[in-house]
Amino acid sequence: MDAKTFDYLYYKTHGYSNEQICQESGMSHEELELMERAMRPLMAEIEAERPKAKDIGPDFVKLTRYVYADKSDQELGLARPDAIKARSGELFALPAVGKLDFHKISLQQAFEQRRSLRKYSEQGLSLEELSFLLWAASWARDFRSNERMEVTFRNVPSAGSRHPIECFVDIHRVSGLKSGLYYYHPIKHCLILLDESPEIQQKIFEGCLRQEMVAKAAVNFIYTAVPYRTSWRYGQRGYRYLYLDAGHIGQNLHLAAEAIDAGCCMIGAYLDEGLNAALALDGVEEFVIYVAALGKK
Ligand SMILES: Cc1cc2nc3c(=O)[nH]c(=O)nc-3n(C[C@H](O)[C@H](O)[C@H](O)COP(=O)(O)O)c2cc1C
Repeated sequence: MDAKTFDYLYYKTHGYSNEQICQESGMSHEELELMERAMRPLMAEIEAERPKAKDIGPDFVKLTRYVYADKSDQELGLARPDAIKARSGELFALPAVGKLDFHKISLQQAFEQRRSLRKYSEQGLSLEELSFLLWAASWARDFRSNERMEVTFRNVPSAGSRHPIECFVDIHRVSGLKSGLYYYHPIKHCLILLDESPEIQQKIFEGCLRQEMVAKAAVNFIYTAVPYRTSWRYGQRGYRYLYLDAGHIGQNLHLAAEAIDAGCCMIGAYLDEGLNAALALDGVEEFVIYVAALGKK
């Protein structure tokens, strides 16, 4: 999604007039007219679904109670989903975490020091430090696979150990790695380069509603959810667990950041359409659920 489409979608759905949209986005009236035409189907869909959106919160909580649940796909004997998604690209090894020697802080100190940090020093992260952060929040310490079940075990808990959250890394300043969007492989503990185009950072920044810290971070962690991994077992109730699982990851990342003299800020304010498009996700089978901007203090 380009910046103008992003602006149009954001401002239009927030009630800005066409005149204001032109002012805010720098679009000419002719460009706006073309945009209106291109976006008509999407805008019609949004308008049609708006009434449903009004009460979706309480409805979601109510209708995901056990008393409404049918048998899950697992109970019905449907094929199990994989524990991680296969992605391809150039591989980058990460240093093994067991050998790293960080200055140690106590757990108590990590809790006490933790704050949301939105301003970072220019200093980047070492590859070892990045490896440590990924290890703390996303690494799979064990992987078991058979016909009936595929499962990972990690440093964070997850409902039924389904671990539906995947981790993408938007690298700005990490020694030994070029800038770009990578996928973190939690079993192989390596990075897979997905997008090194010069535009990718801008797309992620815009997707995060142009929050300054995303542009300034040494690394942005973009967490996505693959809901079927959890709903296969728990049905629609599984959607509750996606957000709970993501929260654990965020806190582990926060505490691990303290141990390397870094800080982070979790981000829930992003334009789903923008970020999902930047990561080439369909927004249904996989979608962005949480973002963290991180850098040295
Ligand atoms: C789910 C969630 C979403 C958040 N989204 C944003 C965000 O989009 N932008 C931002 O600046 N801070 C965001 N934050 C950070 C909170 O504003 C921050 O945790 C809160 O103000 C408390 O400050 P502290 O973390 O320093 O204790 C988010 C935090 C959480 C847990």
